[in-house]
Amino acid sequence: MIFANVSDYREQARRRLPRFLFDYIDGGAFSETTLRSNVEDLSRLRIRQNVLRDVSALSLETELLGQKFAMPVGLAPIGLAGLTARRGEVQAARAAHKAGVPFTLSTVSACTCEEVAKGAPNPFWFQLYVIKDRGFMRDMLARAKAAGASALFLTVDMPVPGTRYRDMRSGLSGGGPMQRRLMRLMQASVKPRWSWDVGLLGGPHTLGHVSSVLGKSAGVEEFWAWMGANFDASVTWKDLEAIRSQWSGPLVVKGILTADDARSAIAAGANGVVVSNHGGRQLDGARSSISALPPIADAIGGKATVFMDGGVRTGLDVVRALASGANGVLLGRAWVYGLAARGEHGVSEILRIIASEMRTALALSGHSRIADVGRHTLDLDD
Ligand code: FNR
Repeated sequence: MIFANVSDYREQARRRLPRFLFDYIDGGAFSETTLRSNVEDLSRLRIRQNVLRDVSALSLETELLGQKFAMPVGLAPIGLAGLTARRGEVQAARAAHKAGVPFTLSTVSACTCEEVAKGAPNPFWFQLYVIKDRGFMRDMLARAKAAGASALFLTVDMPVPGTRYRDMRSGLSGGGPMQRRLMRLMQASVKPRWSWDVGLLGGPHTLGHVSSVLGKSAGVEEFWAWMGANFDASVTWKDLEAIRSQWSGPLVVKGILTADDARSAIAAGANGVVVSNHGGRQLDGARSSISALPPIADAIGGKATVFMDGGVRTGLDVVRALASGANGVLLGRAWVYGLAARGEHGVSEILRIIASEMRTALALSGHSRIADVGRHTLDLDD
């Protein structure tokens, strides 16, 4: 199979992964309206074509949170992404390092921050959830710092879990424990390459950081039960201030969709925000990230770093987000499709494809430097 774009990697991920894992990565909340509008609203944004400008020397280089990167694109935190390929987060972090872009490790990763730090030379960004077990959170902050995390992303759009029908039907969260186990086993049995790569050779089969509270033998069932019991619906801006006081490096609040919330995050001491609806996995019916971005960039841009994620599948989408006011863009499902399809090489290829598409978009819109992209890059109706 020849892989030309992110869609091709998605198709290969679908072929390789057991159904419950593919649906977990690919799916969203309720009827997946927000998931779809993330993609559709991006693709509807027209880019202005400009001609006869010397675009022979193109540069994508950028600076985010005080660090230099090859392009304004990073890998978003994805829980359990490491289950899609052998020691998956380490492979992805290596690919990010080689491409000169940041990798963000989820609290609920399959590999721990220590393993990722050992496996990939770049300092990683660490994502933290606010959960009821504040001792676990404090412990995680200390572990991430000791392992060399250079920025903290605090995810705030998950006080309760989103309702995901695909996960219920696939045997990940619906039905009884015995039925779920049986379904997952049957789905894995028809995906021998994944079973060999992850199931047989991918050990130790622990739950990353969560193993420190659940023990090394805990499995997916214990993990969901722990997550279910630990969602903290009582979280407020005071908790953000408390976390600010415990973390001295750059702090970014992830899961912001309004200018008011963005201003509050910066007032509480955050250095930036991620305009995000969690990839359409939480509040279905929420607006798309790209449509939420411009007023947020107007409110805090220049004072803080504005990231956006949700629906980014091409380098053109990255340019659209930058033109709408983002300083940086995070890839979510796109990098996991690459990882699931072809491991580290797949993530490297996704990043190469995105960079190449960005260069093409830059040249055809008449820009030489990514820093020159702005609202004028969009072809908006007057
Ligand atoms: C996520 N996301 C996420 N976010 C976070 O802060 N911590 C996490 O552990 C996870 N886990 C997670 C799992 C899966 C399977 C997906 C698809 C997403 C949200 C993620 O960081 C990002 O916001 C979205 O993925 C962006 O949307 P796209 O690019 O996937 O459309």
